[in-house]
Amino acid sequence: TLKTETPDTLEGEALGAGHGKIILLGEHSVVYGRRAIAAPIPLAIQARIEDTREGIELIIPRWGVEQRLDFDAKRPPSFTRSMARLLESLGLTGRGMRIEIFPNVPRAMGLGGSAALAVAVIRAMNVHFGLGLSDARVNELAFECEKFAHGTPSGLDNTLATYGDVTLFRAGEQPMREVIELPEPLPIVIGMSGVESLTAKTVTRVREAWKKNPAIYERIFDEIDGLVGLGLDALKTSDYDTLGEMMNVCQGLLNAMQVSSWELEELIQIARNNGALGAKLTGGGGGGSIIALAPENSAGVARAIRAAGYHAIEVTVGGA
Ligand code: MEV
Repeated sequence: TLKTETPDTLEGEALGAGHGKIILLGEHSVVYGRRAIAAPIPLAIQARIEDTREGIELIIPRWGVEQRLDFDAKRPPSFTRSMARLLESLGLTGRGMRIEIFPNVPRAMGLGGSAALAVAVIRAMNVHFGLGLSDARVNELAFECEKFAHGTPSGLDNTLATYGDVTLFRAGEQPMREVIELPEPLPIVIGMSGVESLTAKTVTRVREAWKKNPAIYERIFDEIDGLVGLGLDALKTSDYDTLGEMMNVCQGLLNAMQVSSWELEELIQIARNNGALGAKLTGGGGGGSIIALAPENSAGVARAIRAAGYHAIEVTVGGA
């Protein structure tokens, strides 16, 4: 069971929410125009807004954050800069408000927390100020926020955070967003390394390696795109053996790009030793989380991960 933090008093109040996500196949190569498959997880970030006289207060009780954003600081953090841009885009510059955030997506675990946070705040502003934003506009604004958070995002995280569908995605001027209907819910175990994943860092790492050896990296990206294609067919027919194998091969390529880590590899081995058909890192890597597909033994995989001292949750994605 998943612990959520929304207090009862918030029931019925206007909250904005953004979904967390896992990437089944295609992280990193998606930044280079290849396809990826991602799915929402039943964890979301919620936000609500209250009017204040002046300034922007940010309160995240669970993280012990209580601060006033300083837009005039010499080098404001990326969150402050993205908020300044957001307020400007929404015509809200100078409005006083308190933004309260209820984060049920773990921070920096490769589960799309930053995009979910952006979407939650934008939606909370949408309801509080009656802005009438469409989902497409929410998504666009969240994409702008993500650019402050990690430079060259593909747009996948904000798209998942906004729409919360199992999705085949490709970046571009007109991004492709195809909702994938699963014949049945897909059971996934998420194992968390406890080591912060800084997506900006791994994305930069891959960019530098790509610049040095473009031909090799382009081939890896093409290979991953091929795995996405095969994985998509497998997903649509619940062919878990094939899907698992695509995940395993994808992990090999992510490792080749050096975005895996000691802890992630350990988690993956634990999952495979306990019957996972496929296991790989998910999201930016470097730290963060792995996902494992073990339809016959999800509970056993989760247990083994916990026994090794890591955090694990079982989720199902897609389906009813
Ligand atoms: C991060 O969740 C996924 C990456 O592919 C970056 C991106 O798509 O922007 C690593």
